[in-house]
Amino acid sequence: MTVSLKGRNLVSLHDFSSEEIVQILDGAADLKRRYYQGDSFQPLRGKTLAMIFQKPSLRTRMSFEAGMHRYGGHAIYLGPKDISLGKRETTADIARNLDRFADAIMARVFDHIDVEILAEYSSVPVVNGLSDLLHPCQILADLLTVREKKGTLQGLKLAFLGDGNNVAHSLMYGCAKVGMSVALAVPEGYDPNPEVLSQAQADAEKTGAEISVTHDLKEALNDASVVYTDVWASMGQEDEKAKRAKDMMPYQLNSAAMAIARQDAIVLHCLPAHRGEEITNAVIDGPQSFVFDQAENRLHAQMGLLVQVL
Ligand code: CP
Ligand code: NVA
Repeated sequence: MTVSLKGRNLVSLHDFSSEEIVQILDGAADLKRRYYQGDSFQPLRGKTLAMIFQKPSLRTRMSFEAGMHRYGGHAIYLGPKDISLGKRETTADIARNLDRFADAIMARVFDHIDVEILAEYSSVPVVNGLSDLLHPCQILADLLTVREKKGTLQGLKLAFLGDGNNVAHSLMYGCAKVGMSVALAVPEGYDPNPEVLSQAQADAEKTGAEISVTHDLKEALNDASVVYTDVWASMGQEDEKAKRAKDMMPYQLNSAAMAIARQDAIVLHCLPAHRGEEITNAVIDGPQSFVFDQAENRLHAQMGLLVQVL
């Protein structure tokens, strides 16, 4: 049975039930299949998406903008200099203007609270396109990719190496809901947000998954079917780059790390990749890597979401 997701925001995957997440993935898979079959249907015809970007982007901007165009709608890019979120006028007032012009708002922000404020004051759906805390659109694409490559989600184990960051947080939330275990291997001092961890662990109890954090790389990689990493210094942390690189080098995703995971493990990375830092060329360009399929799935996952919330 399908439930209506009309009008819903995607601020955090924690706000969605297991069934709702699977329903979004099913819708996305259906859109993708129809696109490749040559079906030129336009479920977003006449719809306008406002896109707020406080930070740079390749995939998020391209996938939303190209996706809106593909399905008959239109996307408008609002960069840092265009609206100066919270400086030229309040974030709440921005929400109360944008919802008069657009059918949905996507926002990439520094402070997570800004997506929450947009969602609170906008009368149209707000989608988190990355905040310092979360990156839920990325994880919808990741789950779609894992399901395509592995045929299932339930019961799999994902190892995430490096920083307990926004991508790690959304992976914990999303995987817990669909019954996938996550083992985070992070250096001391780079643990994930404790509230996100405990909420994801509570969700995981209901789906039979396990969400854990360790400083032991081998423990995380043991029996992993999916091995995932992300940049060591996220956008906004550029000043800490050197220290982070030193602290996280033992957690690099390289051939030695891959040898510990399951032989049939797949490699994912949200991208952009810093080759030679968090991941080696041999791994990202190797036969187990599906990072560009994963990038493409951003479009399918996000359009699958918009078709359901609009
Ligand atoms: N993965 C991702 O969000 O990429 P961009 O920063 O290029 O949008
Ligand atoms: N953790 C990274 C993800 C980039 C898509 C960042 O926030 O910069």
